[in-house]
Amino acid sequence: SDSMLTDSFGRFHSYLRISVSERCNLRCHYCMPAEGVELTPSSHLLSQEEIIRLAGIFVSSGVTKIRLTGGEPTIRKDLDAICLRLSGLKGIETIAMTSNGVVLAKKLPRLKECGLNALNISLDTLVPAKFEFMTRRKGMERVLESIYAAVDIGFDPVKVNCVVMRGINDDEICDFVELTRDKPINVRFIEFMPFDGNVWNFKKLVPYAEMLDRVKQKYKDIRRLRDHPSDTAKNFQIEGHRGKISFITSMTEHFCAGCTRLRLLADGNFKVCLFGPSEVSLREPIRAGVDDLGLKQIIGAAVKRKKAKHAGMFDIAKTANRPMIHIGG
Ligand code: GTP
Ligand code: 5AD
Ligand code: SF4
Repeated sequence: SDSMLTDSFGRFHSYLRISVSERCNLRCHYCMPAEGVELTPSSHLLSQEEIIRLAGIFVSSGVTKIRLTGGEPTIRKDLDAICLRLSGLKGIETIAMTSNGVVLAKKLPRLKECGLNALNISLDTLVPAKFEFMTRRKGMERVLESIYAAVDIGFDPVKVNCVVMRGINDDEICDFVELTRDKPINVRFIEFMPFDGNVWNFKKLVPYAEMLDRVKQKYKDIRRLRDHPSDTAKNFQIEGHRGKISFITSMTEHFCAGCTRLRLLADGNFKVCLFGPSEVSLREPIRAGVDDLGLKQIIGAAVKRKKAKHAGMFDIAKTANRPMIHIGG
């Protein structure tokens, strides 16, 4: 590993999130505005070759974990081929994906064969009508099928991401906890975060402390587990449950000090923090013929500009960013 991935606060970035598509088969309110977002012209999206070339540079510099995101990654036709080629990179340990699960179940065996070894599935409600409201599409049953298919095929744990919003799904927290009773499912309750076009407001945010209180009212035997310093989640287990529950507390207890994450967006922009407008294109230099050393210099310089927390923004709700659909979480 070299210093390309170390920032000025000494954080070493071993985790690269790659958005492989800007498109999605859902229209979640918290991720994009009703009118949708402007799509990048396809000639400006990274090809499979370009993704693998860039991933290779990161992995040879010390990245050990890659997460495929979107939009929705399963929209991409060559997703299995991308996984297979990533799994061939020397030094890679984890190939993860975050998916909405709508068309995932039948693709899982192939993806697993191609090296996918960690899976997070987003599901915010267990009530079909609410799913249709939150995502502006149908499909809740198919997501649940994908979660169970993932368990059956051996993903352990299967992480279920649930963005909690006041007055919408905050009454379902304990129903989600029940998913952890008999199966290796890790339900992660996520504080609602502001992104361009998602009509975030403070009242819709359910703070971590409040979510935990609700769980504790019903489940007295809950214990805090040790989490890794780079983990986005604070982990807990209910006594006797097979799975776990966690909280992702970006808003009330940020975890930036242990940040190891970098992002490559579908258009080839490189983003060193989830928040903030600062991005640098890697597509342009790649297409201008810049060699690996040159690309490493561009990447390293961007990493060195990374701020201590939240992209250096005092109020992330007032900071220009991109819509979540382009960032991929
Ligand atoms: P694991 O690798 O399984 O721990 O998943 P992850 O939490 O890194 O990724 P996932 O795509 O499942 O994202 C879950 C939630 O964490 C989403 O709401 C993301 O937006 C949020 N998240 C992921 N990475 C970061 C980050 O670097 N900063 C902040 N503030 N939130 C993040
Ligand atoms: N706040 C918190 N989490 C979000 N996600 C998408 N938008 C938001 C938001 N505004 C989650 C998705 C997915 C993960 C990548 O990010 O539910 O699980
Ligand atoms: Fe890392 Fe930025 Fe997320 Fe903080 S907000 S954990 S610095 S990506």
